[in-house]
Amino acid sequence: MSHEEGAVVGATYPPEVRERLERDAKEIIGRYPKPRSALLPLLHLVQSEDGYVSDAGHEFCAEMLGLSKAEVVGVSTFYTMYKRRPMGEYHVGVCINTLCAVMGGDQIWDELSEHVGVGHDETTPDGKVSLERLECNAACDFAPVMMVNWEFFDNQTPDSAKQLVDDLRDGKDVTPTRGPKRLCTFKEASRVLAGLSDGLAGEGPSAAGASLEGLKVAKANGWKAPEAP
Ligand code: FES
Repeated sequence: MSHEEGAVVGATYPPEVRERLERDAKEIIGRYPKPRSALLPLLHLVQSEDGYVSDAGHEFCAEMLGLSKAEVVGVSTFYTMYKRRPMGEYHVGVCINTLCAVMGGDQIWDELSEHVGVGHDETTPDGKVSLERLECNAACDFAPVMMVNWEFFDNQTPDSAKQLVDDLRDGKDVTPTRGPKRLCTFKEASRVLAGLSDGLAGEGPSAAGASLEGLKVAKANGWKAPEAP
């Protein structure tokens, strides 16, 4: 699939969508002293509508924030979390950074990509799954780690990764290792990243197992963080 395949160029939002997006955008913009500071969350907001940052999304952000479209595109194409063509309902990231790679992340990526039949930032024809090579999920103590719509799936193997994606494509219930029990869609996750809560942020464990080992050792030895000067 070419890089821009599936992307709609030059479209504008239908009036009812535009009205809804404007309502959300105004709430987000109101949180910042200057409107342009709201660009990153607004890009997530339009991504929550389209599954990527569409041409209409770029236009919308520019208009709402008093920026040129070139300024908006310059930002959205800089960050890898903003997608340039539609991602799957489940966006699956495989960490291939150093620790995960040596613990099996490279093998997971190779086998999973071949199993699903798509490469980096590509989506399956049924629109269910897209894959991304990720550079560290900040969860190295659970390497090799994968994420689905930014929820953690720890200590993966090539077989567990393939099973996970098969389950997602079959519509089976899938539970992240940490965080909420229910896995949201990529669009729903983008809305949360825009700053519009789904009420699930406090659900499930965030730190567990290996992450807490250092804390246990510190407690056993009576170690404390130095006082702030
Ligand atoms: S190297 Fe994979 S989470 Fe850090």
